[in-house]
Amino acid sequence: MDLLRPNIARLAPYVPGEQPQEPGWIKLNTNENPYPPSPRVVEAIAAAARGPLQLYPDPVATQFRKLAAERFQVGADWILPANGSDENLTLLFRAFVDPGEIVAFPYPSYILYETLALIQGGCPKRLTLRPDWSWDLAATRAQIEQAKLVLVPNPNSPSGNRWSDDDLLALVPPRGVLVLDEAYGDFADTPHRAELLRRPEAARIVITRSFSKSFSLAGIRLGFAIAQPELIAGMQKVKDSYNCDRLALAAGLAALEDWGAMEENSRRIRVSREWLAGELTRLGFEVVPSQANFVWCTHPSGEHQAIYEGLKRRRVLVRWMRFPGVAHAPEGLLHGLRISVGTDEELRGLAGHLREVLKELSLSPA
Ligand SMILES: Cc1ncc(COP(=O)(O)O)c(C=O)c1O
Repeated sequence: MDLLRPNIARLAPYVPGEQPQEPGWIKLNTNENPYPPSPRVVEAIAAAARGPLQLYPDPVATQFRKLAAERFQVGADWILPANGSDENLTLLFRAFVDPGEIVAFPYPSYILYETLALIQGGCPKRLTLRPDWSWDLAATRAQIEQAKLVLVPNPNSPSGNRWSDDDLLALVPPRGVLVLDEAYGDFADTPHRAELLRRPEAARIVITRSFSKSFSLAGIRLGFAIAQPELIAGMQKVKDSYNCDRLALAAGLAALEDWGAMEENSRRIRVSREWLAGELTRLGFEVVPSQANFVWCTHPSGEHQAIYEGLKRRRVLVRWMRFPGVAHAPEGLLHGLRISVGTDEELRGLAGHLREVLKELSLSPA
């Protein structure tokens, strides 16, 4: 269609994980939290819904920014709330990337980065990770020399591993900005508290955080960026006036006030995660040690599609993922299954169904 900008006409749209709209699924494909948000958050949303919805929300989210800033021991002008982390990622592209500029990210990682780069007319550059998901830092430093943005999820998706602060500091591009996407940061055994923002390199670092995962609020859409005020002010210029609605901001405030509930929930998920990893290992999968609320696993048979489909027939959804262009993978295609940590009951259900599927495919462990 020649009405579209050529890069949009060519663009293969980002496809989010399946979201079945009917009940009855064990849904472990999009890394949602299996538990509901804290009752205080639900009450705050209900109270906001009884408030003056006919009035626009605070365009600069004064109260939210103040509380988030206290939590991370920075000034309020270091915080920018948005309609989920995804919106903050969009704002980063709008604010920092001119057409033709290089945008780099680890590969495999969050597929949306590449889509956003193409929408903006930027040049995506995949920084291929080693087979054990570590960085070849010498090669990478050369590749990010000219990058305007480097985006790094930490913990990474789909692998779930987390990189050290030293690795991350080595990824700050000399002519651009490093975005640390901490959508899964609260599930790590020792969660970050934005320590990197106190380093001299912080003038080139933006951290993005999400309420979707650890705060169980994927259905509300709220996230925030943390960075030095000059960077935040630039992003603020390109946002919609009212990018966060009253209900989202009320939910976010209550969630921040009830931080302990989030920590308790994350602790529970870490315990279930270790059980899931052990069970998958017993069933013959190779599992990457995870610091997130999901695990990445591969089966030596390589039959990931058949396993995914067998589970789906039993109304169990996991994410079957394929990443072409990975030189170290057989035929250049890295593939496997990403499985979100559900409730213990869901995980026991998954394990039972998985046992049957493997049997059907003659892949049961010896
Ligand atoms: C690495 C990563 N970043 C960001 C997001 C999106 O977060 P939000 O729901 O806050 O937009 C996701 C969602 O799956 C993700 O995996």
